[in-house]
Amino acid sequence: MLHNDQLDQWDRAHFFHPSTHLGQFARGEIPNRVITGGEGAYIVDRDGKRFLDAFAGLYCVNVGYGRTEIAEAISRQAHELAYYHSYVGHGTEASITLAHMIMERAPKHMSKVYFGLSGSDANETNVKLVWYYNNILGRPNKKTIISRWRGYHGSGLMTGSLTGLELFHKKFDLPLSQVIHTEAPYYFRRADATLSEEDFSADCAARLEQLILERGADTIAAFIGEPVLGTGGIVPPPRGYWPAIQAVLRKYDVLLIADEVVTGFGRLGSMFGSGHYGIEPDIITIAKGLTSAYAPLSGSIISDRVWQVLERGTDENGPIGHGWTYSAHPIGAAAGVANLQLIDDLGLVANARKTGAHFVDGMRAAVGDLAIVGDVRGEGLLCAVELVADKDARRLFDPAQKIGPQTAAALLKRGVIARAMPQGDILGFAPPLCLTPAEADLVVAATAEAIKEVAAALPG
Ligand SMILES: Cc1ncc(COP(=O)(O)O)c(C=O)c1O
Repeated sequence: MLHNDQLDQWDRAHFFHPSTHLGQFARGEIPNRVITGGEGAYIVDRDGKRFLDAFAGLYCVNVGYGRTEIAEAISRQAHELAYYHSYVGHGTEASITLAHMIMERAPKHMSKVYFGLSGSDANETNVKLVWYYNNILGRPNKKTIISRWRGYHGSGLMTGSLTGLELFHKKFDLPLSQVIHTEAPYYFRRADATLSEEDFSADCAARLEQLILERGADTIAAFIGEPVLGTGGIVPPPRGYWPAIQAVLRKYDVLLIADEVVTGFGRLGSMFGSGHYGIEPDIITIAKGLTSAYAPLSGSIISDRVWQVLERGTDENGPIGHGWTYSAHPIGAAAGVANLQLIDDLGLVANARKTGAHFVDGMRAAVGDLAIVGDVRGEGLLCAVELVADKDARRLFDPAQKIGPQTAAALLKRGVIARAMPQGDILGFAPPLCLTPAEADLVVAATAEAIKEVAAALPG
């Protein structure tokens, strides 16, 4: 390990960090954090300090850190065959096996999986396939994609457009014109406080229908949504939301893309969020939990209905003009096979359900009554604590006060990593699925202390 100061200087001078305040970082106004190791739910930094990573990296290290089974699978694959492409019918034992394992776990009406590298490129693929599908069906105008405000679907040109967060649009000339946004299913922030969850869901569906009718159903190709809103605030859907939304989509022949980059492979205590909420998607996006981030790999799972049209398309037009050099990269695929096996062997889906309920219930009991806590919500091992200036009126803090980041910093001081979500004073938790009840209790206790510390320092 290089002397810390040398690494620090190189970092500030040469490394363009994503999602970072560039000027503050270059000037040394915000700390750099160099992570050197990890085991289970914990990571270690270069100073030897251990942190309980209650966000599993970027909610992706689902099996936890330091799993030798996956490291060895990657090593074996790299020694045997580090790379071969998957164009024109080529494959490797790992990529074919992984495709089979994914389809064994996916909803029964799904047919094939296309492999990419990131959640962003998988959603990019999905939009291209939706456009291709409608062209083959002779509907050249049916191209607009509806996403939700606060949805997160990546940060490319199309996927950054699908993302419904201001930070990802501002000064980037996004969203592109083919993307429009509808209401977020964010019950806690509903405008009309008198609405029940069911009525709010019906209202979201009515707004979606209105948008489709305004634009013309013959122009709307697909709707994309995360089963549980993730980066937009970790918001499980209000009761009745998905059935109401799906009824509208079916009525107007609009495809449904379920973005399961976060929820796929166990995070909610079910293999997929689609099964969890009774969603019947035409396309499912997967990434993160597919390899637990031991190597980059993503996928687009395509339903039989869409597949039939794609096949017809290539019969009429020749091979599909879509592919990445690294599609189905053997090292990612080997990591995926070992990871899915490990999720089964360790019973991590069941643990997410059980320890998740313990965690969310514990969080609600420990912080739910604190004066600045407006909402505690969660599903499986996803949890959010939303901080507010006035609990009864659901009045938010001035964003300039940075209450969310301050609370995350107070937690970090206590050795726990939570994520200050990018829009709102929301603490996000998405620990590895191997979290133990004792580790869950530790996170809950530290969160209660951190919130009390921040609340005590508030003026007046
Ligand atoms: C639901 C969802 N979709 C897509 C993405 C984009 O994935 P990536 O960062 O791998 O491009 C993310 C990333 O957090 C995500 O949460």
